Amino acid sequence: MTDLTTKLAGVTFPNPVFTASGCAAAGRELDQFFDVTRIGGVVTKSIMLDARSGRATPRMAETPSGMLNSIGLQGPGIDQFLEKDLAWLADRGARAVVSIAGGSVDDYAKLAQRLRGHPAVSMVEVNISCPNVEDRGQVFACDPRASSGVVQAVRQNTAAGTPVFAKLSPDVTDITTIAKACVDAGADGLSVINTLLGMVIDTTTMRPALAGITGGLSGPAIRPVAVRCVWQVHAALPDVPILGMGGIRTGLDALEFLLAGASAVSVGTTVFGDPTAPVRVLAELEHALAERGIARLADVIGLAHRPPVPSVPESPDPVGDEPVVDLRRSFDDTFEETS
Ligand SMILES: Cc1cc2nc3c(=O)[nH]c(=O)nc-3n(C[C@H](O)[C@H](O)[C@H](O)COP(=O)(O)O)c2cc1C
Repeated sequence: MTDLTTKLAGVTFPNPVFTASGCAAAGRELDQFFDVTRIGGVVTKSIMLDARSGRATPRMAETPSGMLNSIGLQGPGIDQFLEKDLAWLADRGARAVVSIAGGSVDDYAKLAQRLRGHPAVSMVEVNISCPNVEDRGQVFACDPRASSGVVQAVRQNTAAGTPVFAKLSPDVTDITTIAKACVDAGADGLSVINTLLGMVIDTTTMRPALAGITGGLSGPAIRPVAVRCVWQVHAALPDVPILGMGGIRTGLDALEFLLAGASAVSVGTTVFGDPTAPVRVLAELEHALAERGIARLADVIGLAHRPPVPSVPESPDPVGDEPVVDLRRSFDDTFEETS
């Protein structure tokens, strides 16, 4: 049996598979398909201070190996969230990771105050991919100073034992700059990544497919981008725990994120097609670790960063100056076989 426990900034979770914000509401609907207490935690849809109906429809479009959404943070507002959703998660005994979103630093600070000390809150995830109404709608996550301001406000208003994770956007030139700014401002960990900004044009109507014109791209199409981001953030900040996500569909996908440096993963878009995906991914991951003879999940976190094993034998070539492996030849052979 593999020890699947994972530690995120001092909090121990029984296993590393979580839901992703916005893809499982507050867990109640998924509980019809599996016991939500079996997974590491339920990451709730980002909650704002007031109720919102979100953006105009259509607000979802299919893309190759993914989807585009412009839901726009539809939600009940913090009062109803506390009364209904968080209360349900607490009664159910699920570990809740509450995602918060706002249009100003003050919004985030108020949200953190409202959540402070609530026994069901295992962690706070700060969705900084929101337009800053005080700065011409510039997205917080795209600016280190703005990201830092939000994270600092949330950290100051959150109980000491509750980790604060900042959720990073991949739509930046250097994700490690934002990651460092968030950690310097007090983030205990980082969630990597949010959706990528994308667009689909309907060739029948010859108009953008989404009413909001652009939307967030998610699903397997973004996985290599997400793995790259987790890799870069872990390389830059090896001691900072990462909750990795982006297109995870199987246990092996989850393992890829752990190897890149994530301590846990979120399963998002896949849940829409397979509501049992979080528990299935967990079972597949456990199997994959056992198959590889790994006794502790903690042993694979960041393992892909170790130096490569030399592929060419170091002993001298007994024949002469010829290389032991003709790399060009084997490349040509492989190419012929697969083309
Ligand atoms: C329909 C939808 C709604 C989302 N809503 C939120 C949200 O409210 N807050 C947030 O931080 N991320 C939100 N996300 C982003 C996901 O949490 C996740 O970071 C992203 O989709 C990449 O993971 P995936 O490819 O497994 O879905 C949403 C994604 C989708 C598809």
